[in-house]
Amino acid sequence: MKQTMYFFTIVFFVVVSVATSQSKNTTPSLCSSNEETGGITPQEYRQRRRTVTAKMESGSVAVFCASNPGSRNGDVDYRFRQNDNFLYLTGCNEPNSVLILSPDGIRVDSTTVAEELFFIRDQQASWSGALLGQEGAKRILGFGEKDRHSEVFAIEKLKEILPHVLQSKKSIYFSPALPEFLFDPISGLKFVAVREIRKALAEKYPDLTVKNSGPLLNDLRAVKSSAEIGLLQRAIDATVTGFMEAAKCCMPGMMEYELQAVIEYWFTRMGCEFYGFPSIVGSGPNALSIHYDANRRKMNSGELVVMDIGAETHGYSADLTRTIPVSGSYSVPQREIYELVLNAQASAMKEVRPGIPMNEPGKKAWVVLGDGLLKLGIIKERDEVKKYCPHGISHFIGLDVHDVSTTEKLAPGMIFTMEPGLYIPDSSACDKKYWGIGIRIEDDVLVTEHGCRVLTESAPRTADDIETLMAQRGDARGKNKR
Ligand code: GLY
Ligand code: MN
Repeated sequence: MKQTMYFFTIVFFVVVSVATSQSKNTTPSLCSSNEETGGITPQEYRQRRRTVTAKMESGSVAVFCASNPGSRNGDVDYRFRQNDNFLYLTGCNEPNSVLILSPDGIRVDSTTVAEELFFIRDQQASWSGALLGQEGAKRILGFGEKDRHSEVFAIEKLKEILPHVLQSKKSIYFSPALPEFLFDPISGLKFVAVREIRKALAEKYPDLTVKNSGPLLNDLRAVKSSAEIGLLQRAIDATVTGFMEAAKCCMPGMMEYELQAVIEYWFTRMGCEFYGFPSIVGSGPNALSIHYDANRRKMNSGELVVMDIGAETHGYSADLTRTIPVSGSYSVPQREIYELVLNAQASAMKEVRPGIPMNEPGKKAWVVLGDGLLKLGIIKERDEVKKYCPHGISHFIGLDVHDVSTTEKLAPGMIFTMEPGLYIPDSSACDKKYWGIGIRIEDDVLVTEHGCRVLTESAPRTADDIETLMAQRGDARGKNKR
């Protein structure tokens, strides 16, 4: 049954996926007022679409589809999350919507040639709230300006228009808003979405060349507008508050998920819709697992707890990591490693400026980590540093917490993380006092004209500042005495 459904999805990938999800009432209805785009104006969305259209080759069409609601169990769907590129170009947070762009225009009927077509469900109250509709798409998202050759249709019209569009063009840019692959263990069949869609398109439209739409947007998404910086700062502020409140109530005997609850409470309390990735709250041995997110362990005195967290608003995600002592004060070896990681981060941050590759500042962090580990006798050869810091130092953030990368050098408006860490497993070839220590410190950095601004600056970062913060036992900690 699943195979058959998947076959239909790939053959008629746009039309059928839209039609299938239409029957579901899982609309998040986040597009019903200007506030719902988080301050990004209709003009900004229009400009983004125009910039992408200008990059397309002549005779081409680009088709961007909204995400499908994903089935979680039975009748319950996962919380809806819009496809990044679709959200970036449209601002629409609903499923069942499609955007088509073409630099040479699309003949819609005998009198109309359009550069962009937007298909959306009609405005009506669904089970989960009001929809944007064609009127909202025009007013809030900037579609429908006749002089800009923009047309808005009901989603039902897609079936009629899209085949003509694909027959009349030389190439199509697309990236499916579908899971990368589906695997069925009984038959052993693996359906790779892009491959199957390419095959289906080649059969139906043999003259159409298929291209990936990602590269049309990557460089554009890498440089954030002032509205995007504002949204990321909003997500960061909620994340910093979540961290600080969690640190204030942390104490031995608590479960990791109790800190998670405080953190995510503040995300919501401060207006962020969700988290950008599952919160990582790893104590004791879990501090050494970089993406541990089960958060189900009891925390003990003398241990460290890594909190790697990020609120998300309007699709934009923060990414902050702090490592705190469960009891409120670091042991001497914990402090030695903490200060080494902090120095590595500070040295790397000093390097940030426009015109250099994004990974360049991180190289400085490796040097400082290597020097420090040699000095502490934890490694004998500089190369061994990778054993204790197995991940990269930086990634861009934005609509994805690991946002699209760009081949461009750093430029004002780019935002990326600086996150050195050290993880020293038990039985490592070093003094036992360092065994079991896992420390990561992560901040979000905005590239400016001459250097950088740390957007997460308000989160206490030094060992002393964290101990001072934890000494301000918050209400939650007071009530929670064990
Ligand atoms: N915040 C998780 C990561 O950067 O991998
Ligand atoms: Mn990160």
